[in-house]
Amino acid sequence: MPKLLVINGPNLNLLGMREPGIYGSQSLDAINDKLKVLAEELGLKLEFFQSNHEGAIVDKIHECVSGIDGILINPGAFTHYSYAIRDAVAAVGVPCVEVHLSNIHAREEFRSKSVIAAACLGQVSGFGAFSYLLGLRALAEKVL
Ligand code: DQA
Repeated sequence: MPKLLVINGPNLNLLGMREPGIYGSQSLDAINDKLKVLAEELGLKLEFFQSNHEGAIVDKIHECVSGIDGILINPGAFTHYSYAIRDAVAAVGVPCVEVHLSNIHAREEFRSKSVIAAACLGQVSGFGAFSYLLGLRALAEKVL
């Protein structure tokens, strides 16, 4: 069974209480539970990782060279400036889908640019927690 890694970047551990008008009222655990249900339906195994530290995310992506078939990532604010995460995704060559709860193209200008998306298969943005489920389905198309 293919195994995927779900990575969440900085401040996403605070989902539920963090700016609920923008990011919704669901906790990260609640979103991960929904992903687990869909993954089981699709025949995928999931591993979850959240960190507020860029280097820890880079290290985790490096580990994907063996045993991980795809990456679903919400890089949080790193989306907009982390060339290190972008290069890590490109380096390991594991199919990756970028997701965002909010529509990053409809907010402050600095959010409309992702430096990571070009190293990914694609990006899902603006559908709240559903962005993760759409992203998982997109990744499933590649790995199954
Ligand atoms: C986010 C959008 C980013 O701009 C922001 O820094 C986040 C969350 C989203 O899921 O909408 O932390 O990635």
